[in-house]
Amino acid sequence: MNKPILVVTSRFIEPIEARIDNKYEVRRKADGTPFTRAELLEASKGADAILITPFDRLDAEFFQSLSPSVRVISTYSVGIDHIDMHAAAERNIAIGYTPAEVTDATADIAMLLILGTSRRAFEAQELVRKREWTLPRAGALLGWQITGKTLGLLGMGRIGQAVAKRARAFGMKIDYSDPHQLPDDNAGGAVFHADPLELLQVSQFLSLHAPETPATHHFVNAKTISLLPQGAIVVNTARGGLINDDDLIEALKTGRVAAAGLDVYEGEPQLNPAYIGLKNTFLLPHAGSATIESRTNMGMVALDNIDAILNGTQAPSLAKP
Ligand code: DGY
Repeated sequence: MNKPILVVTSRFIEPIEARIDNKYEVRRKADGTPFTRAELLEASKGADAILITPFDRLDAEFFQSLSPSVRVISTYSVGIDHIDMHAAAERNIAIGYTPAEVTDATADIAMLLILGTSRRAFEAQELVRKREWTLPRAGALLGWQITGKTLGLLGMGRIGQAVAKRARAFGMKIDYSDPHQLPDDNAGGAVFHADPLELLQVSQFLSLHAPETPATHHFVNAKTISLLPQGAIVVNTARGGLINDDDLIEALKTGRVAAAGLDVYEGEPQLNPAYIGLKNTFLLPHAGSATIESRTNMGMVALDNIDAILNGTQAPSLAKP
């Protein structure tokens, strides 16, 4: 029996690659570089399914030109901001995603950023690695203790809740804003703000866990920064487009924002070079889901979604427009 044809836009870890090779006739770029839109459309002619990552942007024009043979596209991510979901629905193409598989790994990275910024980990690393560590040190590299501080979470979905759980164990007080207020049983005492601007006013630490949409694009900007407490810390593990980089960089330079911990960037893998020049930034390369466990589970669920649609069974996680 012929295997279904799967277009794959990236290289995945071994167990995922083994399953792909075993079950599908695979089309991918031999040199491992990302597909351009035209290349992806060409490769998809006659294909049954496409496995993508958040770095593949599928807009309305893509869906208009996509081969009618494609029945399902599965993204190796919880985020679906790179996909025009309405255009996919109009073409009746199922979109699979991995909503539950990144939660713990990403929440851990958010805590790493909270701790890395508050304890000035970048400066401390530099001091040791450049062999500039001298005595006496009592007043050097003083950070800010997180115990007793208020953590504001913009977005209280799976990842926001997992961060809240961790931060609570560090003695932080949790406030949040989300389109949906959690039932008291799930909120763990976190204080709800219907208006995200009110959340900012109490957020000594602000951690972003909202999807990027037209409503949240550049949510962190000069105006919203002015609402934060003086010397607040901003952390982003969601999407780079939630932040207006120029405005945050200006606030980091003046100390209005004491530090920023960033795992995601607008236009990544490029990032505004000013972030790199600042000592009060703690920067990671979109590594939120980068654990063996998370990346394995993401790949398996992404493929489960494809298998289910092609076999006419119930897919574990399909995204809705
Ligand atoms: C996601 O799942 O959307 C992450 O950003 C991928 O690492």
